[in-house]
Amino acid sequence: MPLEAQTEAPALIDRFGRRVDYVRLSVTDRCDFRCVYCMGEDVQFLPRPEILTLEELLAVGRAFVALGVRRIRVTGGEPLVRRDLPWLLERLARLPGLEELTLTTNGSQLERLAGPLAAAGVSRLNVSLDSLRPERFRALTRVGDLERVLAGLRAAQAAGFKRIRLNAVILQGRNEDEVVDLVAFARAEGFDLAFIEEMPLGEISSHARSETFHPSARIRADIARRYPLWPIAESTGGPARYYQMADSPIRVGFISPHSQNFCEQCNRVRVTAQGRLLLCLGQEHSADLRAVLRGQPGDDRALREAIVAAMALKPRGHDFDLANRPQILRFMNHTGG
Ligand code: GTP
Ligand code: 5AD
Ligand code: SF4
Repeated sequence: MPLEAQTEAPALIDRFGRRVDYVRLSVTDRCDFRCVYCMGEDVQFLPRPEILTLEELLAVGRAFVALGVRRIRVTGGEPLVRRDLPWLLERLARLPGLEELTLTTNGSQLERLAGPLAAAGVSRLNVSLDSLRPERFRALTRVGDLERVLAGLRAAQAAGFKRIRLNAVILQGRNEDEVVDLVAFARAEGFDLAFIEEMPLGEISSHARSETFHPSARIRADIARRYPLWPIAESTGGPARYYQMADSPIRVGFISPHSQNFCEQCNRVRVTAQGRLLLCLGQEHSADLRAVLRGQPGDDRALREAIVAAMALKPRGHDFDLANRPQILRFMNHTGG
């Protein structure tokens, strides 16, 4: 049906009947950290002209929201290294129909930017924090400074975000012994917290992913010995399954792509910094939105049509396999998670 002929509010529905109302928009593949599970040490970033301009990113957001998307999460690489990001965020936040603008960051620049992000209309932040020990934090991020991230978290609290969630990727033999400490920290500070199973995206040099796999069930058991947990129904429509404790308002989430697949309820697509619309994090099915943006500049309708057509490509789910070489060669920083 031509878009103009639709009378009801539009919706993006895939072949399996899943409604896509959430987009992850990566604004850069660059990052000031080099997390061992995310990228190689000598990573090559994309040349500037390959990356969507802020105007192009806004056009992508506008097209999705016109098609019924209600939530946008801005990601990277590290989104806060993109210059003039608040310009884009302010405009995305004001798109009529958008209910929530959120952002995932490594926290390194938050001390300076938490205020501008809140002022631009970002309502929730997810901040990566895999360790509370400075040396270990440095080892996991290769270059990161824990103190700066903690200062960034304090600035985010002061800026008044509705909810702040810490993200911890847990690797066997690297930081699995810090799970309870991370929960204690989150409880003391009033942060939500999500534990993430590592996903095999890109070929990394630092470790064999099959050896560092640490299942969510073990994390949950370790926490429950200290702080009993029970499941709650709350969800962002995302992959995290949440739990609560009797004596704390915080939520503890588990993102378990290996041990508890969540693809059946998938509500999301992502756009890479190059304008590639990826229909699944764990597959290569994609549509080239940059070709539309640059081939038919200013034509929002062509962009919407390309997005609608791409829904037919959304696969049933991922086929992550930790034992063999990764089938998906793109690194997480190209996708934004
Ligand atoms: P919400 O926007 O609140 O749903 O949060 P989120 O958990 O999706 O966001 P965040 O950017 O903090 O990502 C946390 C982890 O979830 C990262 O490791 C992402 O790669 C992973 N993730 C997000 N969406 C998907 C998905 O559709 N499939 C898989 N396998 N992982 C995902
Ligand atoms: N597997 C799981 N999570 C990852 N992240 C980055 N790379 C991976 C991976 N290979 C996480 C980051 C950040 C979120 C966006 O994705 O730690 O919190
Ligand atoms: Fe940067 Fe995030 Fe990748 Fe770490 S996980 S290197 S912070 S993009």
